[in-house]
Amino acid sequence: MPHTTPSGMPGLSPENQARVVTACVRQRTEDRWPTGPEGEQFARRFEEHFPALTLLFAEVYGTREDFLDQLGELVLLMARSWARRPADLKALDARREEDPAWFTSRQMLGGVCYADRYAGGLQGIREQIPYFRELGLTYLHLMPLFEAPEGNSDGGYAVSSYRRVDPRIGTMEELAELGRELREHGISLVLDFVFNHTSNEHEWARRAAAGEPAYEDYYWIFPDRTVPEQFERTTREIFPDDHPGSFTRVAATEDDPRWVWSTFYSFQWDLNYTNPAVFRAMAEEMLFLAAQGVEVLRMDAVAFIWKQLGTACESLPQAHVLLRAFNAVCRIAAPSVLFKSEAIVHPDEVARYIEPGQCQLSYNPLQMALTWEAMATREPTLLAQALAERHALPPGTAWVDYVRGHDDIGWTFSDEDAARLGIDGHDHRRFLNAFYTGRFPGSFADGVAFQENPRTGDCRVCGTTASLLGLAAEPGPAVDRILLAHSVAMSTGGVPLLYLGDEVGQLNDPDWDRDPAHGGDARWVHRPLRPAEGYARRHDLFSVEGRIFGGITRMVEVRRQCPEFDGNALEPFDARNPHVLGYQRPGTNTVVLCLANFSDWSQFVTGETLSGFLPEALDLHGGTELDLRHGILLESHGFRWVRAVPRR
Ligand code: GLC
Ligand code: GLC
Repeated sequence: MPHTTPSGMPGLSPENQARVVTACVRQRTEDRWPTGPEGEQFARRFEEHFPALTLLFAEVYGTREDFLDQLGELVLLMARSWARRPADLKALDARREEDPAWFTSRQMLGGVCYADRYAGGLQGIREQIPYFRELGLTYLHLMPLFEAPEGNSDGGYAVSSYRRVDPRIGTMEELAELGRELREHGISLVLDFVFNHTSNEHEWARRAAAGEPAYEDYYWIFPDRTVPEQFERTTREIFPDDHPGSFTRVAATEDDPRWVWSTFYSFQWDLNYTNPAVFRAMAEEMLFLAAQGVEVLRMDAVAFIWKQLGTACESLPQAHVLLRAFNAVCRIAAPSVLFKSEAIVHPDEVARYIEPGQCQLSYNPLQMALTWEAMATREPTLLAQALAERHALPPGTAWVDYVRGHDDIGWTFSDEDAARLGIDGHDHRRFLNAFYTGRFPGSFADGVAFQENPRTGDCRVCGTTASLLGLAAEPGPAVDRILLAHSVAMSTGGVPLLYLGDEVGQLNDPDWDRDPAHGGDARWVHRPLRPAEGYARRHDLFSVEGRIFGGITRMVEVRRQCPEFDGNALEPFDARNPHVLGYQRPGTNTVVLCLANFSDWSQFVTGETLSGFLPEALDLHGGTELDLRHGILLESHGFRWVRAVPRR
């Protein structure tokens, strides 16, 4: 069949061009679609979503001669995948279609862990299901559990096969079975889609290293340093401890002069999405994971997937186009799958990944970082500004609110925002790094510096929540700080995400750098093994663990009972006290007013400040009635969630 391209059809709008291409691709492939009711369902989704996919695909690959062939192959891939999609997942697809905003519910609670470190593997994770239910989880993110290089594998983020589970962790069959079992208990399985790079041991990488041209095209491989040097003039160094710049040698041997793009570790090779074969190959891996019952894919390192000379090679427009195209592939072939964006970048950029047709969920790195900022300064002004100006999201999307994750804490606030509050971003980051690495006099924090770059002054911070908030040195105030930090993540709107172990106040791993497989990567300080003893004390309200666990589970319970916590809507509230953060979660006739005191002393919010509400109010934690005319006293690092009625 002769090639026709969608561009350059004079007089045809892009939408009509997409229709033409859709019809043409349908005609070319239809005889290989599933038949019967399966086929009808596929045809319905195809007609609904394929024109949009066509436009997206054309934006990146539209000038290629083989455009239509590439698109046709993609359709066949989706058709095969739909035909094979297990019946229980198709039933889930239908349920989600009835209730597309399910993940914005106040019932949502996320947990994240490494299957091996937390439970010894997939079997162990199954055994933890009763605990997950006790905690109230509805979302479980298991960090990368695929085949990866021996030794350092960046915690599994160097994937050697998306089809095989690391045998030490389990098997693909066990994973699918676990997905089903979790779902029966109301818990959605979340896995990473590490799609910016593969490990250098992935079959594609091995074949590229061996010089097969088709696979060299899967990566950014150059014969010498010329082009890499041009790129490196404008790219950022992400793991400078490992290698300077963005490239490493393909092979350690002197006789191989080639260089390959490796944003992160030298054994993680960036995929080349200018090659449509890469898009298709990764779409196939994605649909394979979807077929195992994964409900949310955490889209790893989204900012880096497109490169262009003369730019920072981060968050380029094509990165968004590719994500939308992957999303459209799911709408057609695995409709219940959602994406969560992992963009730990400037807040303007973070926001650009969040939309129903791109990533429905996103980490909230700004709120995370600014919660830590407020803890250090005792003044939540930057956090209040972020909640007022940067919290709103489009309908059909949600934040994932976390206190900390498995990665370092980076100070990704906007310098312009800070300047409006009279804060110098550069100096403030230096202060925060000094504070959390314990170098600042009087700091309560026990953290470790990460990827400190003497050339640029860049540095990030590692540590568990409890250690960064000083639990070892001063348990009393630290417990309050820990609960305060979690109260913010639990109440601003979105899916709260707990790093499992934090809910019993787990401390840093003192032996983190003994394991050579951890390659001196300080993030391992906050990735300890499951704290069995801490968990054993979680019901003892006289223990530190019990106080933290009790406090967190109480928040989960209150949150679940209050319809005001559904969705993402938030209105600022000026508590007229520089140490107290205020915000309201609006309900139908009521609001939940959240107040959080970041200071080391008790603070008062006056009755006059609260006079916009009727006097009768309810403290949701204690279940006690309040008279707002008397104001509200907050203990040091105390917080209150109060149901109040705004005066009309
Ligand atoms: C993401 C992961 C991080 C990993 C990096 C490279 O940022 O969260 O742990 O090092 O991607 O895959
Ligand atoms: C992301 C972030 C970076 C973080 C890295 C993994 O790429 O931009 O700050 O350190 O992932 O650690």
